[in-house]
Formats: sequence, C-alpha cells, structure tokens
Amino acid sequence: MKRSVMAVSALFLGASMVYAGSHGGGVTFENNIRPLMENQCFACHGEHAPLLEEYDANKEEFEALLQGPRMTSYEMVMEFVKGDDAGALMRRLDDGANTQDGAPGNMFTYLGETDEERQENLAVFKEWVGYWTLKRSHELSAEELEKFTVHK
Ligand code: HEC
Repeated sequence: MKRSVMAVSALFLGASMVYAGSHGGGVTFENNIRPLMENQCFACHGEHAPLLEEYDANKEEFEALLQGPRMTSYEMVMEFVKGDDAGALMRRLDDGANTQDGAPGNMFTYLGETDEERQENLAVFKEWVGYWTLKRSHELSAEELEKFTVHK
C-alpha cells in the first residue's frame, strides 16, 4: 500500500517537472539567468556599469566605454522585458528569426562563442521570458503583459 502511494506521488512529481520545464517554470533569474549573464553580459552590464538613469543621461559617453546600463538585479532586467523599455531584451538577443530584416539583435553575439552556445543560451532566455515578443511597451496589451513568465 505504502509503496504504491509513493509510486503514484513520484509519477506526479515527474509530471509536474515536465510541465514546469515546458512553461518556463523551471528557469529562474537567480538560478539560471543571473549566472548566465554574469558570464556573458556583466563585463558591460555588471556592478560597475551605470544605473539606467545615469546611463540614459550620458549615453554616448558610456557607449564609447562599451558600458551598457547595469543589469545585475531582477528588477533592473525587468525594465527591459516588460517595463518602460519592454521588449528591449528580446530585440537585442533575438537571433534574427523574429526581426523584420532577419538580422540578429546587437547583443546576440554575446550569448556565446559558437553558434551552438548562442542558440543554447538563447533558448534559456526564451524559456525564462515565456512570451518571446519584440514589441515595445506601448504595443503590449494587458493580456500580453500577463504572458511573461520571468520567474525570479
Ligand atoms: C562588450 C560589452 C557588452 C556586452 C558583453 C553585452 N552588452 Fe548589452 N549593451 C552594451 C552597450 C554598450 C549597450 C548600449 C548601446 C546599445 O544600445 O547598443 C548595450 C545595450 C543593451 C541593451 C539595451 C539597453 C537599453 O537601454 O535599451 C540590452 C537589453 C542589452 N544590452 C542586453 C545584453 C545582454 C543580455 C548581454 C549578454 C548576453 C549583453 N547585453 C552583453 C554592451 C554590451
């Protein structure tokens, strides 16, 4: 009796893990995205990079130094997923499959050394975002905003 109960709960566990995996539930900012960004992005978006406000006020100066806005916390990154600058993360990281001219976003290259690595890391970002759209904030409906999974 006890054994079959355990077998059934193991089955349920297995099923919910598969479900989570295919709906972005398995990918979180702290466990997956932040470590990935630490390796691929923080050279230019890390702790020494300017906060967004400061960056926006002196864009040219920071761009010349190859510094983008700081993206070290969940909240900072959310700005580029579904905040005022919604879709920026997706527009910059897209491999060209969803862009109008078929060219990749200008941060795609930093996703990895090889095309394979870039595609693998892109897939992790896609799973985390949950709703891969290149739309800007004024183009996103309230319903669409609900579709971003972005687990912390
Ligand atoms: C070699 C430096 C460098 C690396 C590495 C880098 N970036 Fe950037 N990034 C920049 C600079 C400089 C800008 C600002 C200039 C521009 O908009 O292209 C920028 C801009 C951005 C923007 C737009 C910000 C805005 O204000 O709208 C996003 C989103 C972004 N990067 C994401 C990433 C992600 C994610 C990674 C890692 C996969 C990454 N970047 C890696 C230098 C870098």
